[in-house]
Amino acid sequence: MTSRPRVIVNVAMSLNGMIAGKSGERVNISSAYDWERVYKLRSSVDAIVVGANTVIRDNPKLSINHVEHDLQKLPTRVILDANLRVPRNANVFDGSMRTMVFTEKSDEIQNAEMMRRKRHELLVDHLLIEFSSFGFKKILVEGGKRVISEFVSSGSVDEFYLYIGDILIEKDGLRLFDLDTNITNVIRDIKMMKSGVLISLNPYLLRESWIKKVRDF
Ligand SMILES: NC(=O)c1ccc[n+]([C@@H]2O[C@H](COP(=O)([O-])OP(=O)(O)OC[C@H]3O[C@@H](n4cnc5c(N)ncnc54)[C@H](OP(=O)(O)O)[C@@H]3O)[C@@H](O)[C@H]2O)c1
Repeated sequence: MTSRPRVIVNVAMSLNGMIAGKSGERVNISSAYDWERVYKLRSSVDAIVVGANTVIRDNPKLSINHVEHDLQKLPTRVILDANLRVPRNANVFDGSMRTMVFTEKSDEIQNAEMMRRKRHELLVDHLLIEFSSFGFKKILVEGGKRVISEFVSSGSVDEFYLYIGDILIEKDGLRLFDLDTNITNVIRDIKMMKSGVLISLNPYLLRESWIKKVRDF
């Protein structure tokens, strides 16, 4: 039997609970010190997973930057984009790393392996089986809110890292948790970092206290 990959979530949040600005505008919440941690985390996994909106809003490269790494074993960028809304010139299609797009659509994108799937085959449980078949043993889910909530609600997240940076984002930004979500009992560990705090959450308890609320998001 193929076992599913280990799933890690990493997300950065402002002091007032936002992960993006107004209309999903990108805000750099992580400090330079935290970015070093993120690059190392990326370099430790086989695949980095993001949703279509994250590519559209943030245009991330999802690189490991200067972390020393065997170039043959760079992580694969996995874009979840059922309706193929991402721009064809997005940074994830720069050809510097293997890139897969899971979609229902039939178009091609240069420098991407198109994984055409039916709607039910795009559910997390199914995706994880596929990831295992590609040899992915560890994956990092970087966002955004919808994709993170899909993975948490599937019960497949093993580690959940929440970096809280010392910045505030305007009040109509994108919240990760509703204001009345109590995450006190889901905290596993808190680590002080330069210009922020790294919190490790228990993904299974988080599923109970948070996911019911984001289901209709
Ligand atoms: N602070 C941080 O650490 C951080 C990290 C990443 C992103 N962000 C922010 O998060 C925001 C984006 O979050 P979001 O919740 O709006 O969107 P998202 O999670 O990035 O993308 C959601 C979209 O991806 C597609 N999708 C999701 N699951 C899929 C699946 N299983 N298979 C195929 N396609 C799937 C869907 O597209 P369709 O609706 O077309 O089906 C869905 O609407 C951005 O504003 C970004 O700045 C913050």
